[in-house]
Amino acid sequence: MTTQDDAKRLAGIKVIDTYVRDGMKVGLGSGTTSHIFVRELGARVADGLKLTCTTTSNSTSAVAREVGIELTDVNDIDMLDLTIDGPDEIDRQFRMIKGGGACLLWEKIVAHASRRMVTICDETKIVDTLGRFPLPVEVVQYAWQQTERAIRRTLPNYGVAGTELVRRMKNGAPVVTDSGNFIIDCHCGSIGDAEGLEVALNMIPGVVENGLFTRESSAMVVGCFDGTAYVSE
Ligand code: 5RP
Repeated sequence: MTTQDDAKRLAGIKVIDTYVRDGMKVGLGSGTTSHIFVRELGARVADGLKLTCTTTSNSTSAVAREVGIELTDVNDIDMLDLTIDGPDEIDRQFRMIKGGGACLLWEKIVAHASRRMVTICDETKIVDTLGRFPLPVEVVQYAWQQTERAIRRTLPNYGVAGTELVRRMKNGAPVVTDSGNFIIDCHCGSIGDAEGLEVALNMIPGVVENGLFTRESSAMVVGCFDGTAYVSE
């Protein structure tokens, strides 16, 4: 029987076979799907595949090092050839919500430093309309409740029905990102104008980045529960 982790692994293998070539500079995404892919990539590197790699989170750096992938500081790479990362939700135009693992800022920086971004996921991540997964917004700690109020006022202008906002917590303490910021999760229900909302949120003072990735990905590789994987471009 194919489990969700098997489906993620199928996507990870397929993306390597389809897109990764010797000598490439590659950005490594975050989250469980990306970590499975990084482990597969580590096996290829052990077999002689030569890559220059950088990551989108401290957690992915730990996995990459564990499987023997040497890492380069993103500042020391001019332009990456390819970033491979996973979504929390993705529609058929490859627009996404990311940041379930609180790594959205580094993920977006690395995606924009790349000629191409390809998304990997299992088939449960594909949606008709974005917004069921709470949209993460990364905000600076200073005056975070003022920033939260401004986010709440902005959401209805972009076709968002739900305005329940929650500062992300773990074990009774606020989640702090790798860059030292808080995460506000916006329970939108559905998002009518994802492109407009992505830009508008980033205009609010105190917002560092948001989890809408509406322009970055140009393909998705999907692992399925029937044991197959496919590429959509
Ligand atoms: C982290 C992310 C992840 O890429 C996203 O949450 C997907 O994770 P998973 O593969 O575990 O479902 O955006 O900030």
